[in-house]
Amino acid sequence: MIIFVTGGAGFIGSNFIYYMLKKYPDYRLVCVDKLTYAGNISTLQKAMENANFRFVKADICDRDTIYALFEEEKPDIVVNFAAESHVDRSIEDPEVFLQTNIIGTAVLMDACRKYGIKRYHQISTDEVYGDLPLDRPDLFFTEMTPLHTSSPYSSSKASADLLVLSYYRTYGLPVSISRCSNNYGPYHFPEKLIPLMIVNALHDKPLPVYGEGLNVRDWLYVEDHCSAIDMIIHNGGVGEVYNVGGHNEMKNIDIVKLICKELDKPESLIIYVADRKGHDMRYAIDPTKIHKELGWLPKTKFADGIKKTIQWYLNNREWWETILSGEYQNYYEKMYSQIHNRQCE
Ligand code: NAD
Ligand code: TYD
Repeated sequence: MIIFVTGGAGFIGSNFIYYMLKKYPDYRLVCVDKLTYAGNISTLQKAMENANFRFVKADICDRDTIYALFEEEKPDIVVNFAAESHVDRSIEDPEVFLQTNIIGTAVLMDACRKYGIKRYHQISTDEVYGDLPLDRPDLFFTEMTPLHTSSPYSSSKASADLLVLSYYRTYGLPVSISRCSNNYGPYHFPEKLIPLMIVNALHDKPLPVYGEGLNVRDWLYVEDHCSAIDMIIHNGGVGEVYNVGGHNEMKNIDIVKLICKELDKPESLIIYVADRKGHDMRYAIDPTKIHKELGWLPKTKFADGIKKTIQWYLNNREWWETILSGEYQNYYEKMYSQIHNRQCE
């Protein structure tokens, strides 16, 4: 089995690569990643030691390169994590989100059509459903909830989802989609809420909470997301959408306070800053379908997952300090030329 993992140098994609290499020692995994600011080759350093792993630096929008790679590797499955993923950046500059998240998805699926594939799996997000009101805790996103996006990021992801479903209906491409809630865990880029608060707290820097911090997100430990994707690509229905979430809703402010407590830092570090434009109030996933059809259930409770995550950031200071210093971009140049040289030998 040959699996293409696009965006595998990012947060969830890299966790998925490690999950799959461990669980399926016979599978070949090919990571295709452009290494944007969010992709970090050092994250994949251990994977590089595995003979069944290959890293290819490429843009999913680059049709010629992607087609050449399909021709060479003939993947059985493509799992597309590659995306611009940060809502705040999409508000500042939407264009690259449209390019990677929509056009990139189309290029990958065109390659799948041309060269044949057992499964194309699109990693989507619960943000395609928009948000829920805080005063209706009885409401959850199901797969039938209409798409109703708020940010350029979520709109680009919803557009990609529609395109994926259209390739199923029009061309019969064997696709599936998962829409997951907010993930947390190792290798999370320190611009997102949880890692940003951990690294700022460790530096005794202010902890910027948007608005009043009352927005609710439904947090899932990244390994549980990986196990859901594993089940869907092997046993999920073609043309199907699966919501993935662990019924773990938390207010932002409570997460930040918890991080302060775990790190023994004062809550006086918290500052309330201007709210995000169009800020979604609440996300909450109903994961009944994936549970009933595929038997998926999350394994990690938030209380344990957040401790593990904080410990990971304490044990892996070099990883995030290199990112914060911007040094990792140079590091990549060095690492990548070594990898390239190794592949050419
Ligand atoms: P990330 O930003 O950490 O990683 C994205 C990766 O994609 C990076 O390695 C980057 O270099 C790569 N990439 C970007 N543009 C590319 C291009 N044009 N060609 C090739 N590679 C490119 O993102 P993440 O948090 O790991 O999210 C992965 C996927 O999961 C995304 O599709 C995102 O929408 C989705 N998702 C994320 C969350 C979350 O909580 N992080 C929740 C649900 C869904
Ligand atoms: P984020 O991690 O960006 O994920 P998403 O917007 O995709 O859910 O943000 C999670 C929540 O935390 C969101 O409600 C915005 C909020 N937030 C802050 O309050 N301060 C911050 O510095 C960041 C990055 C996010």
